Amino acid sequence: MKVVHTIEELRDQLRGQLRVAFVPTMGNLHQGHLSLMKLARQHGDPVVASIFVNRLQFGPNEDFDQYPRTLAADIEKLERERDVYVLFAPNEREMYPEPQSFQIQPSADLGGILEGEFRPGFFTGVSTVVLKLFSCVQPSVAVFGKKDYQQLMVVRRMCRQFQLPVNILAHETVRDTDGLALSSRNMYLQPEHRAEAPQLYAALQGVKKRVEEGHADLDALERHAIDHLRDRGWQVDYVSLRRQRDLLAPTAGEINAREPLVVLAAAKLGSTRLIDNLEI
Ligand code: PAJ
Repeated sequence: MKVVHTIEELRDQLRGQLRVAFVPTMGNLHQGHLSLMKLARQHGDPVVASIFVNRLQFGPNEDFDQYPRTLAADIEKLERERDVYVLFAPNEREMYPEPQSFQIQPSADLGGILEGEFRPGFFTGVSTVVLKLFSCVQPSVAVFGKKDYQQLMVVRRMCRQFQLPVNILAHETVRDTDGLALSSRNMYLQPEHRAEAPQLYAALQGVKKRVEEGHADLDALERHAIDHLRDRGWQVDYVSLRRQRDLLAPTAGEINAREPLVVLAAAKLGSTRLIDNLEI
C-alpha cells in the first residue's frame, strides 16, 4: 500500500486510472471501515482510502481535538487486509491551504433535520470535504456506510444534483456481537456505559417490531422508545421514524401502506453521543 500525504502525490499514483473505488474516512479504523474497503474492492480498481479528520464538520463544542488519531495503527490494519492500494492522508494545510470560502450547503429539509438539527453546519462540513476529496481522488465509485444514514443520503443527493460522475454504494452497518454499531466514538465509553450501549439498537428494534405489528401512531412509536431510553439514563436527542426516500416523516397512511421507513436515533450516555438507525 502506498501512503501519500499530498494531492500531487495522489494524482501521480492515480494517473490514467478510470475505475478508482474510494472510501473516505476519519481514521481510527475498525471492522466497519475495513468492510467498506472490501466492498470497494469488488466494485473498482484500484481502491483508494482517505484518512482526514475534517475540522469543518465539527461544531465549536464538539470533539475535534479529542478525536482519536491513530495513523500508524490504521496503516497496519490496512496493510494486513490488502484491499487498499493508495491511502491518502493529507494534513489540514493540504486540504485547507486557505479559509474555505466556498462551501456546499444542503437545504434545510435535508441538512437541517435530525443530525443537522443537533449539529448545525455538520452536513455543510461533510458535503464540502467529500466534494473536495472526490475532486482529489476522482473516483468512479465511492462507498459509504449506512451507519451514517443521513450522511449517505446527503452525499447521494449532492452527487445527483451536481451530476458528479461517482456511483455511491452503501454498506450495511457493521455491529458488535451485542448489536452495538461499531464507531470510533465507542472507545470513549466507560465500561458501564459500554454495557448499556446496545440498548440504543434494541430500542430501534422495538420500534421496528411495533411498526410491523401494525402500530401507525408516529408520536406514540417515537415517544415509547425515547421514554424507555430516558428511563435507563440516556439523554436522547431524537428517535425518529422517517421515510427512506427523503427522511421526511411518514403519514399514518404511509406507515400502514408499508412505505419503506427507517428509524433513526441519536442519544448520549454520559458525554458520549451515539447514533444508529434501522430500516423497516
Ligand atoms: P467516519 O466516521 O470515519 O466513517 C467513514 C465511513 O465509514 C462512513 O461512510 C461511515 O458511514 C462508515 N462507517 C462507520 N462506522 C460504520 C459501521 N459500523 N458500519 C458500516 N459503516 C460504517 O463518516 C465519516 O468518517 C466522515 O463524515 C467522512 C465521510 C469521512 C467525511 O469527513
